[in-house]
Amino acid sequence: MTAHCIPNPSKEVWDLIEASGVHVRKMTEQDLNSVHGIERKSFRNPWSRQSIAREIRNPDSLTLVVEKDHFVVGYVICWCVCDEAHVGTLAVDSRFRRTKIGEKLLRQLTKDLTRKNINHVYLEVRHSNLAAQKLYKKFGFKVSGVRKNYYSKENEDALLMSLSLKEGLQYGLV
Ligand SMILES: CC(C)(COP(=O)(O)OP(=O)(O)OC[C@H]1O[C@@H](n2cnc3c(N)ncnc32)[C@H](O)[C@@H]1OP(=O)(O)O)[C@@H](O)C(=O)NCCC(=O)NCCS
Repeated sequence: MTAHCIPNPSKEVWDLIEASGVHVRKMTEQDLNSVHGIERKSFRNPWSRQSIAREIRNPDSLTLVVEKDHFVVGYVICWCVCDEAHVGTLAVDSRFRRTKIGEKLLRQLTKDLTRKNINHVYLEVRHSNLAAQKLYKKFGFKVSGVRKNYYSKENEDALLMSLSLKEGLQYGLV
């Protein structure tokens, strides 16, 4: 069944959604509208629809969504090169944040990457994005560098964070 964006659910529908289970699965072209909708609301410089579509088709990318009662509420896109992976984008629908969906996504991502024999995962995160940094640190990511003025429009640095998947195992999260 196709997952859809949540329009404006009534209180009853909302309660049903809240109570239902969530699961992570591979992203498909049918998720494009939902994923792009969350992406646009989550970032100042969002990925285009075409970029997301390209990664869904890219055999070297790992693209996952979290589905909650047939609604897409979060996603991650990651590129794999040799034994390294780079997280390109990751976001959770703002209405479902702080409900462990980000954690669920990262847990599945690190499991899938481990199966693909990936050893290291890298990502850039805004210096000011403390929520995401806390999430990544929970999984054992460490700050391994600073990319000066990476977000040049806003004159903001990025922290380069990295995770050794073998170390991640010690956290019991991978
Ligand atoms: C960052 C983001 C993905 C977190 O997703 P989430 O589903 O809300 O996170 P979870 O509920 O799984 O939280 C897991 C942990 O992350 C940390 N965390 C998440 N949001 C946080 C916040 N607003 N403030 C402080 N810590 C936060 C906490 O350590 C939390 O564990 P806890 O609940 O035991 O305290 C989400 O806020 C988001 O989509 N933000 C906008 C897009 C973005 O910044 N993406 C990352 C780009 S690098």
